[in-house]
Amino acid sequence: MSSGKSFYVTTPIFYVNDAPHIGHAYTEVATDFLARWHRQAGDDTWMLTGTDEHGQKILRTATANGVTPQEWADRLVEQSWKPLIETIDVANDDFIRTTDPRHEKAVQDFLQKLYDDGFIYAGEYEGFYCVGCEEYKLPNELADGTGQYEGEKVCAIHSIPVERLQEKNYFFRMSDFQERLIELYESNPTFVQPDSARNEMLQFIRQGLSDLSISRSTFDWGVKVPWDESHVVYVWFDALLNYVTAVGYGQDDANFDRRWPATHIVGKDILRFHSVIWPAMLMAAGLDVPRQVYGHGWLLVGGEKMSKSKLTGIAPTEITDTFGSDAFRYYFMRAITFGQDGSFSWEDLSARYQSELANGFGNLASRVVAMIERYFEGVVPPQGPASEADLAVQKVVADAAAAANAAVERLAIHDSLSAIWTIVDELNGYITDMAPWQLSKDEANRERLGTVLYTAAEGLRALAVLLHPIMPKATEKLWTALGHRDVLGELSAQPVREAATWGQLTAGTSVNGLEPLFPRIETPVA
Ligand code: MSP
Repeated sequence: MSSGKSFYVTTPIFYVNDAPHIGHAYTEVATDFLARWHRQAGDDTWMLTGTDEHGQKILRTATANGVTPQEWADRLVEQSWKPLIETIDVANDDFIRTTDPRHEKAVQDFLQKLYDDGFIYAGEYEGFYCVGCEEYKLPNELADGTGQYEGEKVCAIHSIPVERLQEKNYFFRMSDFQERLIELYESNPTFVQPDSARNEMLQFIRQGLSDLSISRSTFDWGVKVPWDESHVVYVWFDALLNYVTAVGYGQDDANFDRRWPATHIVGKDILRFHSVIWPAMLMAAGLDVPRQVYGHGWLLVGGEKMSKSKLTGIAPTEITDTFGSDAFRYYFMRAITFGQDGSFSWEDLSARYQSELANGFGNLASRVVAMIERYFEGVVPPQGPASEADLAVQKVVADAAAAANAAVERLAIHDSLSAIWTIVDELNGYITDMAPWQLSKDEANRERLGTVLYTAAEGLRALAVLLHPIMPKATEKLWTALGHRDVLGELSAQPVREAATWGQLTAGTSVNGLEPLFPRIETPVA
């Protein structure tokens, strides 16, 4: 069922200098959750992810490993970045690489247009550059080095020395767009979210924008500047364009109009690129600005951003090999307030796995299925007259679904999950209070027993639908066990905004055995 609404959502494209850690996976899961939710709601959804392969950082890594940058990028994409998508069960619609010919050609077209329209000029850049960030740095953005870098200026994010550049470059007239950006922020207060991020960006713009150097001429790993092949396009200018080149900018207008503008999910470290430079580029080209830019927080280790360069990166498989992809997805989206930083800990993950997934949700599902098997030979009983307790369950389901939908609209992913979890808690309490095992002792209670199990199973149906975007695998198992596929169709086709409509479960449906959704973890974790 189509809602007629377009929802195009993107992750940042990832540098291929190294393999992914759970910070990268965090961005992927958040974006995938939103895409799955909207897809299931019937919105015309498209999720894009991919890799950022040009620039000095990749060139240096490849050289240090004795291969060409293209060989290095191919290797990392095939061995690390595409497999990440499987590891954490991401259902992206497209994967763009900045070395794709479709991208490189469209980057050149975009640049040529800006050049022809007078937004690009030749000049001289003199200043600092951090190859880790691939960013030009102002003196006030640097820190004093310590240890082996004592006496040097280092990048405040990477803690490595910045490089001094003096080059002839092409510049983009970003300063022309200061007023229009301020207007954009004022007329559309949710353009950048969360609010704290918006305010910070607005303040940055108000301080005044400088023109941006958008080419480099001292190395050649990049897209060639079309009118001057001795320069390659600055890696961020090239990378940001992936969001439009992937949906047909300059090549497939119908598709571009169908998808664009996008919602961008990015880490807060790269918010300025997305909420200042990127909209200015789009304005210069006469294109719509993004629908929204959301800057999420960082996964921290020891109070610092988790990173491979600081040797604090944890590979996603270290978690999924033990806990599975559903638990990975659920844990990070539930335990960390989206938009804020959060610390990962094995203890917290294990505790939530046990209490919320295994004992809370998994056990609820097993008990309900087992009781329908035991007391009704595996056939869903009809629903008799509803008691106050049954109506209370229906109300909790309706309120939770409405709250979850509203939370997804404001990208408060953690809130949507805690709203849905009120159904788990309600159903567990309901079963304890109704004590079907007591009702089963007296044939006179047969109709009541049926109503109680119907109510619990119908609540589970709503849970399967609402939780499918975050835990695709466990909810599929539950869907199969509840026998819904033959009656209601595929789980992924169940409209998430109608999950609470009561009575979708048909009496007479056969329920099959359910293996534990979240098995006991035997291996001790680190
Ligand atoms: N290539 C650029 C993005 C270009 S988008 C046009 C880039 N790549 S990255 O691989 O360094 O980072 C990609 C994303 O992963 C960023 O959103 C970044 O914030 C996120 N994360 C990297 N480490 C992270 C944590 N420790 N925690 C949460 N997110 C993290 O930047």
